[in-house]
Amino acid sequence: MSTPSTPASSKSPPGGPSRDVVWDAGIQARGVREGLLGQKAATVWMTGISGSGKSTVAAEVERRLVASGRLAYRLDGDNLRHGLNADLGFSAEDRTENIRRAGEVCRLIADTGAIVIATFISPFAADRAACRRVHEAAGIPFIEVHVHCPLEVAESRDPKGLYQRARKGEIKDFTGIGQGYEPPSDPEIDLDTSKLSIDAAAEALIESLRKRLA
Ligand code: ADX
Repeated sequence: MSTPSTPASSKSPPGGPSRDVVWDAGIQARGVREGLLGQKAATVWMTGISGSGKSTVAAEVERRLVASGRLAYRLDGDNLRHGLNADLGFSAEDRTENIRRAGEVCRLIADTGAIVIATFISPFAADRAACRRVHEAAGIPFIEVHVHCPLEVAESRDPKGLYQRARKGEIKDFTGIGQGYEPPSDPEIDLDTSKLSIDAAAEALIESLRKRLA
């Protein structure tokens, strides 16, 4: 049996969908879903090195938003790497793909009307900028939050024991040790967790959201 040849029209151009794939805009606008929920959708993108406090602050922000009747959903780098991104490692290329997929997932979840709180190291500025563009194209606010503290502080926290292993050479491309982190040059929100308590950081973030999503 001969293999049918692929028709030219079904070939995907690099980096884009096939010409045969047509975007379906849907029949319900996001505004309708936001109306049902009584809130504005957004992606809150928390970036920072491991141990900077992203997940801890995000959990408190999610708790407070849900307690006040908002639909908020946390999307975490470690968790996504257990499923959707289980095929990716920590090379620069894999991190870029990790963040590309994460940005798309955030955009999809935010399109439901939810407030997405994303916690990814996302060390490269260009990858974060690409996520911002995806959101801007969809008309969804993208709020970049730089969660930071000195490397020594993050290393002293070492909640997963990963810095210790990286220092021993057991994790070769660990962010801040074997690989770089590009801090955001103009984040919407800046949280220094070596100076702020978890409660104060969460409060500052929520206060800023209140103003931005009013
Ligand atoms: S990112 O750089 O691609 O954005 P992501 O946020 O998904 O990273 O995952 C980071 C988590 O993976 C860290 O919280 C840590 O638990 C774990 N991890 C394992 N290896 C590394 C590494 N080489 N660098 C950074 N984090 C790592």
